[in-house]
Amino acid sequence: MQQKTIQIAYLTYPHQEVSESLQQVVQSAIEASDYAYAPYSNFRVGAAVLLENGLIIKGNNQENAAYPSGLCAERVALFYANANYPDVPVKAIAITAFNTHGMISTPVAPCGSCRQVLLESETRYQQAIKIILIAKDTIVEFQSAADLLPNNFNASYLKA
Ligand code: THU
Repeated sequence: MQQKTIQIAYLTYPHQEVSESLQQVVQSAIEASDYAYAPYSNFRVGAAVLLENGLIIKGNNQENAAYPSGLCAERVALFYANANYPDVPVKAIAITAFNTHGMISTPVAPCGSCRQVLLESETRYQQAIKIILIAKDTIVEFQSAADLLPNNFNASYLKA
């Protein structure tokens, strides 16, 4: 028997240290949460996707009285980007969330389904997607969707 270890490096820094190239996508994610439709959870999530051509696409969570019919902010933004700009790779996604007390103090962790969808985009465009998680006092930055989903199911299994 062998024990193996998976190690994932990520960055964490205060808001004022966000790189210039990511400032706009971070701000857009915060803005996007304003238009969330979250009457059931009161948990308003904002996501913003930065495309390779510089365009920024905003999304937010869209809830439904039939709960499973809703969709997370990340997938709203990403599917819109993929649907309307199918030839433009995704460079980064910034995500934040507000509860009834304001911006959350722990960076929001994208759900499993969103991680899987982010991974598909990464595979599709053969380009790593930076994942930027924004909390009240800190920002966490992963360099790739695969870092959020080690040992993932992906297209390579279907080709074997
Ligand atoms: N939600 C997101 O939009 N993104 C996440 O990463 C986590 C959860 C939404 C789904 C639902 O509308 C609300 O947050 C509570 O789960």
